[in-house]
Amino acid sequence: MKYDFAKVCDRTRTDCVKWDAAPAIFGRKDVIPMWVADMDFPVAPPIVEALKKRIGHEFYGYTLPGGAVIDSVVERMKRKFNWKIERDWVVLTPGVVPALHAAVKALTHPGDEIILQEPVYFPFFSAVTSNGCRISNNELKFIDGRYEMDYAGLENKFREQPGPLPAPNRVKGIIFCNPHNPIGRVWNKEEVTRMGEIVIRHGGTVISDEIHCEILFKGNTHTPFGAISEEFEQNCIVCMAPSKTFNLAGLEASSIIIPNKKLRDGFAAARMGILPEPNLFGLTAMEAAYRLGDEWLEQLLDYLQVNLDFAIAYFETRIPKIKPVRPEGTYLVWLDCRALGMDDTGLRSFMREKASVGLDDGFLFGAAGAGFQRMNIACPGSILKDALGRIEKAVNSL
Ligand SMILES: Cc1ncc(COP(=O)(O)O)c(C=O)c1O
Repeated sequence: MKYDFAKVCDRTRTDCVKWDAAPAIFGRKDVIPMWVADMDFPVAPPIVEALKKRIGHEFYGYTLPGGAVIDSVVERMKRKFNWKIERDWVVLTPGVVPALHAAVKALTHPGDEIILQEPVYFPFFSAVTSNGCRISNNELKFIDGRYEMDYAGLENKFREQPGPLPAPNRVKGIIFCNPHNPIGRVWNKEEVTRMGEIVIRHGGTVISDEIHCEILFKGNTHTPFGAISEEFEQNCIVCMAPSKTFNLAGLEASSIIIPNKKLRDGFAAARMGILPEPNLFGLTAMEAAYRLGDEWLEQLLDYLQVNLDFAIAYFETRIPKIKPVRPEGTYLVWLDCRALGMDDTGLRSFMREKASVGLDDGFLFGAAGAGFQRMNIACPGSILKDALGRIEKAVNSL
């Protein structure tokens, strides 16, 4: 391996949220932070080189995003997913979460509903509620250790609407998460199609958060929502970014793909004055990542696969009371801790105080996450091993 993902790097005292905020959040100095979706690996060298070059041009003024960076997004969608998009469809923002807020604002009037499928990435909740809308929860089904979407439930969400009313008070669409954080499913083409057909048939729009789409474990492929058909393309807002794949979250640059002109204009109006252009250096990093990052990414995925296989085997053989749900994508492992027999407060303090690991509480992702914890395995193997050993020791002491 050319890149050394096993090397432990000290990220403390660098204003790093994952490490520097951990003692305050988890209440202990010695906690191993395995929470926020950020990797403990240095960025791919071609990205660093591109940033250094840009810094060397000592003008950091207002920037007009466009040209080469947009081309790099268009080319990547074609090369990675065989999705042919046009340059005009690409809207750059400083993040996916603010784009979700703007998308909901564009699609709704206060009082409308947006469907979420919990347990799900919790910033989706405020993207809906801060726009005065209500969450309609079509909870995922957990059957024999595997999550599925509830298609009948989804149909009902639209059918339950109170008569043929004009806006407001209508179900306007769904925020779809693929790959799905925190449960790690990479919804396949059939599943995405089935979900999309229901939403579109009822006149809804799919806001598809695909930020984790390039972190895939062996045997999984990602299908962008808009790549399925022209009809799907015209009824979606697809949120992409290099930030998870290439560990660039602090540089704040995402690409939101909106093929439908009317939706794109609505999004532009909704973001006006509140959602600025992305950070200049984020754009440089995005282009370098998309054009030059693949060799690094291939090796990263191999490393994450080793970490995942190790963690799953560790739980199965040494901590069988905690059952990991094997993710198909994302570097987050959803742990079913219900057999420990603890309530949410008990499980939280057990992980923090007894095991001294900093995980995300499952209930944060919705009531369906009660009894679960989310563990970020994007770290050197030695750190992962240390964390698993701590959990094992704590469970054995019960
Ligand atoms: C599903 C999902 N969407 C969005 C984000 C964050 O996006 P951003 O940092 O671009 O706002 C995350 C971060 O973990 C995520 O998991």
